[in-house]
Amino acid sequence: ASSLQDACESSNYSPMDHENPDVDWNNLGFGLMQTDYMYMMKCGKDEEFKQGQMSRYGSIELSPSAGVLNYGQGLFEGTKAYRREDGGVFLFRPQENALRMQNGAQRLCMPSPSVHQFVDAVKQTALANSRWIPPPGKGSLYVRPLLIGSGPILGLAPASEYTFLVYASPVGNYFKEGTAPLNLYVEEEFHRATRGGAGGVKSISNYAPVLKAISRARDRGFSDVLYLDSVNKRNIEEVSSCNIFILKGNVLSTPAINGTILEGVTRKSIMDIASDLGYQVEERCIPIEELIDADEVFCTGTAVGVAPVGSITYKGNRIEYRMNTQFVSQKLSSRLIGILRGVIEDKRGWVVQI
Ligand code: COI
Repeated sequence: ASSLQDACESSNYSPMDHENPDVDWNNLGFGLMQTDYMYMMKCGKDEEFKQGQMSRYGSIELSPSAGVLNYGQGLFEGTKAYRREDGGVFLFRPQENALRMQNGAQRLCMPSPSVHQFVDAVKQTALANSRWIPPPGKGSLYVRPLLIGSGPILGLAPASEYTFLVYASPVGNYFKEGTAPLNLYVEEEFHRATRGGAGGVKSISNYAPVLKAISRARDRGFSDVLYLDSVNKRNIEEVSSCNIFILKGNVLSTPAINGTILEGVTRKSIMDIASDLGYQVEERCIPIEELIDADEVFCTGTAVGVAPVGSITYKGNRIEYRMNTQFVSQKLSSRLIGILRGVIEDKRGWVVQI
């Protein structure tokens, strides 16, 4: 906690920060709530990140010609801090987010923080904003690391300066449906990612292009969009902000990592948990037709958690999934939550105490 003390001393720490925020913990959605502090670290194009610091949460100054504003040279990450019954605060596999940011940074020609720097920045941000971490069972503090080309550039080239920034906001359910099953619309006109593109990394440029598809689907009463591959227009890829799984009998399948699928931390964890529980887990190509007779479909993501799918609409036909039995996504989700809460053994060392 000494780094927190230093952080607070160097950024106009005020005793107000001890007061409980005026938040209705029972009704958290996934909206931005401004918290107290953020972390920032900068470095030049051919340099390594060295030392960052906490400051008050607030606007940052950027040149109008910053690489991120003009050419989208930027990545984001998402991880969550949880509070346990005993007051302890925990992160879930933050090293995985750090490694994924390093991968993405290579793809977008940016320097990236080391795993240690990344995890330390996430810890400091969570601790400095600890009064915003919801009570146990009410949600989590979503921590959002960003890596952006902040230096000015006119010709298309890597920016001259980079900024690594971490802020946080308390969150509850991602979808307005809460934990109710999602109704997905299979998009045939737009694709989320293409072979050789940047769909496999968390580039900021992957997200604005899906807004139109999401808004069209929402206008028609759907929760979100399921995308197909752009080559065959036949294999399922992912939903706008999460990965997808299908279950048939004892086999749990999810699209293989091939450059167009984001390597989700929750995706990976659910595959391990499912194997532990005796399911056969497959990463492969999944033609849309397989959804017609799947027993269960669900989505996974850091923001989304594990979200059951109640229906999928493809070419005007609605496939409904029976949700009346004890469904498997619920079982997998409970196990994941149990590990987070410390009531199920964390045999792989996923949970990091701060
Ligand atoms: C996350 O799950 O953390 C994401 O990055 C999804 C985001 C679009 C909210």
